[in-house]
Amino acid sequence: MRYHERTKHQPHRYARSLGYMDWATQPDPFRRFPGAPLVSLARVEPRPEPTYDAVFGGGIASLPMDRAAISQLFFDSLALSAWKVYGPSRWSLRVNPSSGNLHPTEGYLVAGPIAGLTDQPGVFHYAPHEHALEQRWALDPAGWGELRRGWPDDTLFVGLTSIYWREAWKYGERAFRYCQHDVGHAIAAVTIAARLLGWSALLLEGTPDAALAGLLAIDRQEGIEVEHPDCMIALVPHVTTEVVAAARTWQVPPAVLATLAARAPAGTPNRLSADHHPWEVIDTVSDAATKQAPPGAAFWDPAPGGATPHAPRHGPLSARQIVRQRRSAVAMDGATAIERVTFYRMLQAVVPATNGVVFGALPWRPRVHLALFVHRVRDLTPGLYLLVREPRATEWLREAITGPVLWEIAEGCPAGLGLYLLERGDFRDGARMVSCHQEIAGDGCFALAMLAEFAGPVAEYGPWFYKRLFWETGALGQVLYLEAEAAGIRATGIGCFFDDVMHKILGIQDRRLQSLYHFTAGGPLDDPRLRTEPPYAHLE
Ligand SMILES: Cc1cc2nc3c(=O)[nH]c(=O)nc-3n(C[C@H](O)[C@H](O)[C@H](O)COP(=O)(O)O)c2cc1C
Repeated sequence: MRYHERTKHQPHRYARSLGYMDWATQPDPFRRFPGAPLVSLARVEPRPEPTYDAVFGGGIASLPMDRAAISQLFFDSLALSAWKVYGPSRWSLRVNPSSGNLHPTEGYLVAGPIAGLTDQPGVFHYAPHEHALEQRWALDPAGWGELRRGWPDDTLFVGLTSIYWREAWKYGERAFRYCQHDVGHAIAAVTIAARLLGWSALLLEGTPDAALAGLLAIDRQEGIEVEHPDCMIALVPHVTTEVVAAARTWQVPPAVLATLAARAPAGTPNRLSADHHPWEVIDTVSDAATKQAPPGAAFWDPAPGGATPHAPRHGPLSARQIVRQRRSAVAMDGATAIERVTFYRMLQAVVPATNGVVFGALPWRPRVHLALFVHRVRDLTPGLYLLVREPRATEWLREAITGPVLWEIAEGCPAGLGLYLLERGDFRDGARMVSCHQEIAGDGCFALAMLAEFAGPVAEYGPWFYKRLFWETGALGQVLYLEAEAAGIRATGIGCFFDDVMHKILGIQDRRLQSLYHFTAGGPLDDPRLRTEPPYAHLE
């Protein structure tokens, strides 16, 4: 709670950072493990099928997990998607977005033998620049058998870790929050990429962080550039009751950890920066938010998402094309408006009840709701709206939000979608101001703040849930990015905002509810000075 308070941006005082870019210590965006065997992956270009509608509407047959499928899984989630060139500068962009394009999230694969890729079970680090896997551990068949006991034969696991230093280099103390947003984006990116192969994702929360670090071979790293364990995601061809039960109880088996602890992983982490600036409060919050033990029974949501999938209608739009072309708008045109039906379709895609594909992967009761500044949606009154993503929270939200009072069901709101008009008005200036004066928040079709049920769940489940709240906002953001892309507009995540100014607009008077992430979507304006190059010309 102290970390959260002290890293709030205020109009008169931004959260502590260097305040300038120290180019001499700029971190290398690519972690590598020189010395580890490298297994190259195929670059599987997007095809017309599956369509974007099929992702959330269902009906994608499960493909076998061979080299082509694993290649596609990473190509559609954590790979490079383009290079940008401006004068002498050149930088890469990825399928998953990242605050400041600093990419603190690292991806891992834990899998059994995979046809065409590896004969041996192993733990692999994903290297996006090479689009290849670095093998850090080979697992013996018995160990792999232990790891996937209770799961279908072809289950595999994707792990995520964060290098806080990458974000802290630029953003200082607030960086821990941004790393967690990025993890949430990556969870959704992996979930959706798996869906494109007909597979489902489940976040595994039963294991303590230290065991995860041991399995992923990051527990021996030292210094400020260390990777911190975040999560493990199971990928399965079909979700059954047994699979859900396995997901809730899965732990890294102690025997496997003991075997690995006695061996050295292949490769040594590369050095990312010549020098560093320490941000002690990040270590403090990271320690405080470490998961020490499995969650209590109350943590698991008995009502998983996706009860009534909405019926998206985008026609023959290629899902993989949308996923790989996703881009943040750097400026909005201040003119484009979207249809009301489009707006509602985007909102249905971020509600757990109508999007089990993404939000069903998160096992806790959804805790994040949206306060929306509607600027330009045809046939919808401009104003401040609230989207209740989880109906169980409606009455509670009415109490926690004491400012605007209308609470009228929004015009034309589809049945079951909890969108309420709180206050009519032109909020373009307000949205801009609250988002650190960024024009994109006022110039889009709408902007929003993600409001998390905060102090209650963190106290109930434990401080490690602080990270999960950010993951939920990141996953939500990833869906919004794709929805905007599919609707022919563009979105941008906004990590820079004045927390308590947003709370004041809503009359939020305590830490029961906190704004954790802002977003905007609208007609994008391209920067003509930038040239775009293909993602993997360097491998040709
Ligand atoms: C958590 C998060 C916070 C972000 N905050 C901002 C922001 O405050 N302002 C902004 O213009 N862009 C913001 N972005 C967009 C990033 O700058 C963008 O994702 C990054 O440059 C990579 O570009 P891409 O999204 O086109 O791949 C944010 C993105 C994320 C994921």
